[in-house]
Amino acid sequence: MRNTMLILLIISAMVVASCEAKKKDAAKTGEEKIPEKYRKAEAFKIADKKGCLACHDVEKRRVGPSFVDIAKRYSQKGGALEELTVSIIKGSMGKWGSIPMTPQPVTEEEARKISEWILKLK
Ligand code: HEC
Repeated sequence: MRNTMLILLIISAMVVASCEAKKKDAAKTGEEKIPEKYRKAEAFKIADKKGCLACHDVEKRRVGPSFVDIAKRYSQKGGALEELTVSIIKGSMGKWGSIPMTPQPVTEEEARKISEWILKLK
């Protein structure tokens, strides 16, 4: 009897452990699913390192607008590069919905590089 209990205990511990492992996989952010063609860009790598992808995807809306949607709205607009660069550094609110973007920890050069890249997506 004691042995049966022990075996049951071990089995349930194993089940719990494998569930935990699955949960960890599911918790991975969407980053891995972003197509390879975007991932090669230097600007993408900066965005990845700076945590932008926690809220933005290239093609899909997440907490913030997708980078492609931003490109569609801004690429024909005068002063767009400047406007996006300022938004990234100082934050943005009310342009895409009710969730604001707080100021991001990037240098002006990094913000400009990412904005240039975003504006070329479409
Ligand atoms: C905590 C979530 C979050 C993070 C992290 C984040 N953003 Fe945003 N971002 C948002 C939201 C929400 C908006 C929409 C704001 C609005 O409606 O004006 C936004 C908007 C934008 C816009 C459009 C601004 C405009 O003027 O229309 C750009 C460009 C942008 N983000 C780039 C970035 C970059 C680059 C980073 C990383 C350095 C970043 N974001 C990090 C949530 C985030």
